[in-house]
Amino acid sequence: MYIIFLGAPGAGKGTQASGVAEEFGLVSIATGDLFRQAVERGDDLGEKVKEYMEKGALVPNEITVQMVLNKLSAPECRNGVILDGFPRNLGQAEALDEAFKKQQKNIDSVVYIKVEETELIRRLGGRWVCRSCQSPYSIEGTLTEEQKKCSKCGGELYQRPDDNLETIKNRLKVYFTETSPLIEYYRDSGRLIEVDGEGEVGEITKRIIEALRRKA
Ligand code: AP5
Repeated sequence: MYIIFLGAPGAGKGTQASGVAEEFGLVSIATGDLFRQAVERGDDLGEKVKEYMEKGALVPNEITVQMVLNKLSAPECRNGVILDGFPRNLGQAEALDEAFKKQQKNIDSVVYIKVEETELIRRLGGRWVCRSCQSPYSIEGTLTEEQKKCSKCGGELYQRPDDNLETIKNRLKVYFTETSPLIEYYRDSGRLIEVDGEGEVGEITKRIIEALRRKA
């Protein structure tokens, strides 16, 4: 089973990917997480992508596509994958379809998580993320040093440098111009599942799981 999670920044792709991956025994690959880890390590890849991420721009396709295809060829991905945040433009979608055609694999479903823009901005402004396991938290106001701890792994919680208002606005602009055309691309090929992404996290997980089961 190969599934894509599509949606604007803050739509809940990462939040939902973990629950859905667990339900179906899939591996979740989040391109944003992979890039952030490379920046933290300060390696070659991190050096190349840092500037794009800080501005909220897309990392060039030649870097992104190669990284994802390498990941997908790992043995743990054999039983299926959720791609969270990839593809992000038509070039990436076509490169993925082409690579899968050669490997006789298919993207089974594309889950498009729909959330209103004002809600996206509200969510991103209040997001804290675990530096170790990348789990996102939604918190209003500031946190004391004591409270900056992940309840899942004990890692340090931090606010992503691209979650400031100016960069959020640019990420949304990039999403609407470069990524949203993929909605039609996948609808036209009969692979799109639209899910209302507003409401309780657990309720949305149920909606996605039920929609995927109906399509299977
Ligand atoms: P990436 O990390 O993918 O960021 P993004 O797409 O902007 O998505 P987010 O992680 O912001 O949102 P999400 O939908 O995962 O929401 P989350 O679950 O965290 O990419 C970062 C950068 O990397 C890009 O700008 C680009 O530079 C580069 N990049 C990545 N992929 C690339 C690609 N393919 N090509 C080129 N460049 C690429 O939820 C958000 C918040 O809302 C959290 O606080 C969460 O707790 C909360 N929340 C979730 N669900 C709910 C709910 N139902 N109700 C209330 N709050 C909720």
